[in-house]
Amino acid sequence: MIQIAPSILSADFAHLAEGIQSVEVAGAHLIHLDVMDGHFVPNLTIGPPVVASVRKVTSLPLHVHLMIEDPDAYIDAFAEAGADWICVHIESCRHLDRTIQLIRSRRLNPGVVLNPATPLSSLDEVLTGIDHVLIMSVNPGFGGQKFIPASIEKIARLRKIIQQKGLPVRIAVDGGVGTENLCDLVRNGAEILIIGSQIFGSGNPGENVRRIIELSQHCPQVSA
Ligand code: DX5
Ligand code: ZN
Repeated sequence: MIQIAPSILSADFAHLAEGIQSVEVAGAHLIHLDVMDGHFVPNLTIGPPVVASVRKVTSLPLHVHLMIEDPDAYIDAFAEAGADWICVHIESCRHLDRTIQLIRSRRLNPGVVLNPATPLSSLDEVLTGIDHVLIMSVNPGFGGQKFIPASIEKIARLRKIIQQKGLPVRIAVDGGVGTENLCDLVRNGAEILIIGSQIFGSGNPGENVRRIIELSQHCPQVSA
C-alpha cells in the first residue's frame, strides 16, 4: 500500500492543528516533521516541544526526519515527545549502527536517509536493521524545491537490492514530490510519499491529500 506522509514544513504554523486534522480526515497515513538545526542543513525549524504538541492533536504515526548534527543526543527527547518513526541522515551519523540501535531500543521504527549525492552502497551494512530508507530527491533544508529526476532511477536500484536480499525495508521519498512525478516514483518502488508544498502550500490541505491518494491508487500502467 502506498502511504502519504504530509510534511508540515509548508503548513501554516499558526493553524497547525487544523491543517493536521484536515489531512488526517482526508486519509493521510503519517505526519512528517522536519527537524533542522542550522548546522547540518542551512535552516532552522522545530524541536521536541512542537512534536509533543502535534502528538496531542492527531492519532496518526509521527515520522520525525532529523536533519541535525549529533542525532543520538536527541533521540530520547523525540521519543518522549511522541515520535513513532525516526529517520536519521547517514551523513550526520558517525556511528550509524549505534544510532539505529538506540532508536530501536526506544521501540520506534528507525529509518536511514540518503542525500542526493550519497550512494546506495553506503547502506550495505545497515539495511537488515532498519524499517525504511528515505531517498532525498532534493538537497535537504527547504520545502518547495525542484525534484531531482535521477532519484527515480536510484529508487529503482534500491528496490532491486531490497528484493534481492528479501528484506522488509520500505522506500520513502522526500522533496519535490507531487502529482507530476508520484506515479513514476510508485512504479519504481517508492511506498511512502512525503509531500509538503503540494499539500500545505496552496488550496485546501485535505482536498490536496484526497487528490494525491486517488492518483496514487490509479497510476496508469506504462507499456515497456
Ligand atoms: C526538505 C524536507 C521535506 C520538505 C518537502 O528538506 O525534508 O520534507 O518539507 O517539501 P516539498 O514537498 O515542498 O519538497
Ligand atoms: Zn523531510
